[in-house]
Amino acid sequence: MKLVLQKGLATPIHQQIYHQLLNRIQTRVITDGEKMPSLRLLSKELGVNYLTINKVYQRLEEEGHIEIRQGKGAFVKSSSGRVFFQQLEKEQRYFPLNLKRSQYLMQRQKFHYDFSKAVVSPGLLPSHFLAQQTKVILDQNPMILTTYGPVEGDEELRQEVSSYLEGQLGYKQNPDEIIITSGVQQAINIVANTFLSPTDTVAVESPCYGAALDTFMNRGNAILPISIDLAGMRTDLLEEECRKNPPKVVYVNPTFHNPTGTSMSEKRRKELLELAERYHFIIIEDDSFNEIYFEGVLPPKPIKYFDTTGHCIFLKGFSKTMAPGIRLGALIADQRLYEQVFIAKASIDVGSPLLNQKAILPFMKTKRMKDHLEKLRIALQIRRDMTAEILEVYLKDRIRFTLPMGGLNLWLKLPEELDVRELQRQANDQSISFLPGSVCYATSEATQEIRLSYSGLTDRENTEGITKLAALITEMM
Ligand SMILES: Cc1ncc(COP(=O)(O)O)c(C=O)c1O
Repeated sequence: MKLVLQKGLATPIHQQIYHQLLNRIQTRVITDGEKMPSLRLLSKELGVNYLTINKVYQRLEEEGHIEIRQGKGAFVKSSSGRVFFQQLEKEQRYFPLNLKRSQYLMQRQKFHYDFSKAVVSPGLLPSHFLAQQTKVILDQNPMILTTYGPVEGDEELRQEVSSYLEGQLGYKQNPDEIIITSGVQQAINIVANTFLSPTDTVAVESPCYGAALDTFMNRGNAILPISIDLAGMRTDLLEEECRKNPPKVVYVNPTFHNPTGTSMSEKRRKELLELAERYHFIIIEDDSFNEIYFEGVLPPKPIKYFDTTGHCIFLKGFSKTMAPGIRLGALIADQRLYEQVFIAKASIDVGSPLLNQKAILPFMKTKRMKDHLEKLRIALQIRRDMTAEILEVYLKDRIRFTLPMGGLNLWLKLPEELDVRELQRQANDQSISFLPGSVCYATSEATQEIRLSYSGLTDRENTEGITKLAALITEMM
């Protein structure tokens, strides 16, 4: 049996042997009832004292994993592996119970008027062009399917992303500090895997993008919800918390925040960076919506723009502006953090699919991306306006919302007397869905807030669906 021991580690040799043998028993490499290697053989193979192996076997026996039979040797107890797998199954079953958003997504019912997902209607995205390019790439270079790409992402794409972001970041990011990820969701996970131990605290906006909450909650991290107002995360409240117990990471979606649509002011962005420097936490800046601004009003510069000390890890999403199915995003980390993030990406998937990376290049390289974004902004602004207008007409004084200046979502506060669960049930009966606001909070309190995404349907479906929903709310009141 090949065990690999490393001298000079903090873990003593007898523990290394113990863990490796236990792992082989639990994963059934050594199966139920099988004889363990003899003490003499193992001590010779590993070059360690006979008594060390004896000590390990005694521990394994005490814990019920093996049985030592006098004169015959040690045998794996038949229940040992089974118990381990039963335990895994139990934990697996527990998993979705823990996760707010995933649990919501697991409802597989399809709705005709689906306002619950922050997605852009495929008709507004460059589906045909990307499909055409994919065909061209496959014809010209079929080997792309049979080779690994670099872990950090295709070099040409990283260069292109660097140029693309120049306008937003105010400088040309070194392509060697960019990692191409499979979407922002993966990038959040990579950063969490890299820098957070299960006992660490993560501060988030309250409310927060639900799937980010899931990531941190699933890891067992303590969540520190920080209220937001129209200028974004309340840095004064964060500072109070920092004085008591600073978080390790602060996750924010500062531009056209999901779910509320608000943007963090420049002042708060700078304050957040100051706090990160003073209390030594990492900021994860999720920038999924920056390009989707309305009325020609540009959002404030990203937090990363003001970051001179490398406290901010910037995540750029392409799902809302280009193609969610292609699963691409970019992570920017300064040199000091880059290597650790690189290792995490390598251990997750050894790099994102090369074909997808090559497929978006022609789109980003030419003027197409710029023209497309201009049209996208206009189309989404029209939908935002239509949605807001219908809600105003039907529900004028009964609801509250702030008109978002960008992004995909409208955050509605419904009247106290309306039962949101009942509204959801009746809306679902009419094939309408929305996201209940409770999904966006770390605690499970009931809330009168709901999120409507106005971007996922055609103009006509959007108008019809919102009108029906508004009529339903009126009727229920
Ligand atoms: C704020 C935010 N971050 C990240 C994501 C996930 O994006 P991606 O498709 O790039 O993984 C979403 C998707 O809804 C989002 O709203």
